[in-house]
Amino acid sequence: MHRRAFLAWGGLTAIGSAFPVSGAAKNVAAASVNTNTTTPSDSYRAINLTTKPGKVNIVGPDFPATDVWGFNGQVPGTAIRLQHGQTLKATVNNALDVPTAVHWHGIRLPNAMDGVAGLTQPAIQPGESFQYEFTPPDAGTYWYHSHVNAYEQVGRGLYGPLIIEEAESPQVDRDLVWMIDDWRLLEDASIRNDFAAGHDVSHAGRIGNVPTVNGRFRDIVKVRTGERIRLRVINASNARNFALSFGELMPTVIAIDGQAIKPYTASDSITIGAAGRVDLIIDMQGEPGSSMAVVDSFYSDAFDLTKFVYEKTPLRHHVLDGPIGLAAATIPEPDLSNAIKQEVVIAGGAMGGLQQAKLDGKWLSLREIAQQGYVWAINDVVGHKPAMPPLIDTKKDTSVILTIRNETAFPHPMHLHGHHMKLLSVDGNALSNPYWVDSPLLMPRQTMEFAFVADNPGEWLFHCHVLEHHAAGLGALVRIA
Ligand code: C2O
Ligand code: CU
Ligand code: CU
Repeated sequence: MHRRAFLAWGGLTAIGSAFPVSGAAKNVAAASVNTNTTTPSDSYRAINLTTKPGKVNIVGPDFPATDVWGFNGQVPGTAIRLQHGQTLKATVNNALDVPTAVHWHGIRLPNAMDGVAGLTQPAIQPGESFQYEFTPPDAGTYWYHSHVNAYEQVGRGLYGPLIIEEAESPQVDRDLVWMIDDWRLLEDASIRNDFAAGHDVSHAGRIGNVPTVNGRFRDIVKVRTGERIRLRVINASNARNFALSFGELMPTVIAIDGQAIKPYTASDSITIGAAGRVDLIIDMQGEPGSSMAVVDSFYSDAFDLTKFVYEKTPLRHHVLDGPIGLAAATIPEPDLSNAIKQEVVIAGGAMGGLQQAKLDGKWLSLREIAQQGYVWAINDVVGHKPAMPPLIDTKKDTSVILTIRNETAFPHPMHLHGHHMKLLSVDGNALSNPYWVDSPLLMPRQTMEFAFVADNPGEWLFHCHVLEHHAAGLGALVRIA
């Protein structure tokens, strides 16, 4: 209902002109400079992040600003950029009146810095602070977000980009970050307060009615003919998956979930599941003065997510042709001939056919489980708290082959903390170029096979990043000793 209302408001397409050149991405980059309280040295970068309420003009000047929760009051939160090899020292001050904690999504960091309240640290209470310190081992595109009642806290805006720059990166004219999201807003542009509603939990999650790029609905992105852009797209939605089309521009995909892949030209739309990232190289080849929509078509109603608007004067008259590939990731290669095997079956939800599952070691019917707010299970076990019997319990440096089967009617972006997994096959078909992922999207009835080295000791979450699904049981624990 509301979704249609907002999406149908064609008049809003003009709001972009109210914003500065190149859209909100630039504002974000500028904000990070202002909030760095310590001068970055070569070896580390110190940053202050205060979780607090803020006001963001999501829908545009014709509507009231939206009350959000943001890092430093902004959405997205302060953009953090480090050089590969630099240490991040992040002081998180909680100025909300609820507990929180910060997770650094996709970073292979020490367990104690992972930010999962109740598992890797106590929650940061209102008025308290916590110091995170780690040195990301891999360059790439990551993000950070709240990991306490994430279905509400991320839904209210508690996320930001975390970019680890390569020592040598492709030569581009601009490095843009798009944090894409969707919001469920009422007609007065306030956030609809129905987090973890029963229907969302048992179906596709909290799908919003207002899709945004960097916290703005239908902002425009000014570009110049001949310009080469590195676009880092980060899906910060609670549940929405995107399939983005860039028309005739045919971007080159150079990284997925932060890690380099063998570059390929995307002639089709590019799917980015919730929590997923892609890095693209785009050569802007439209006519000066023209414009072009970036269209999403993951669900049945396609819509314009944003629009490239070309300036009158071209930047150059030819396309840059420098190298665009990234150095391969240095993640340990799993030993497939010497690996333990773990099957993972995802079941439950509406139209999923789950009859019964174990909650706290007791077999219960789906109805009984649902009465306690759970509707999903992994291998017949409802994941209901961070500390529970592990799905995998293994020694450090064991190679693991993980086969995940989605036996439900909904897509699930499955996220493993503290590791990247190599995607080996989809529905039994081996990939010719396996690649690393941390948040692969499994479509209904799909099976994917992964392998990774369990090289990072600790207790790690493995869960669906549809945040409502995680809250309703779609999570498990991986213990590495
Ligand atoms: Cu993006 Cu468990 O997190
Ligand atoms: Cu994570
Ligand atoms: Cu899910």
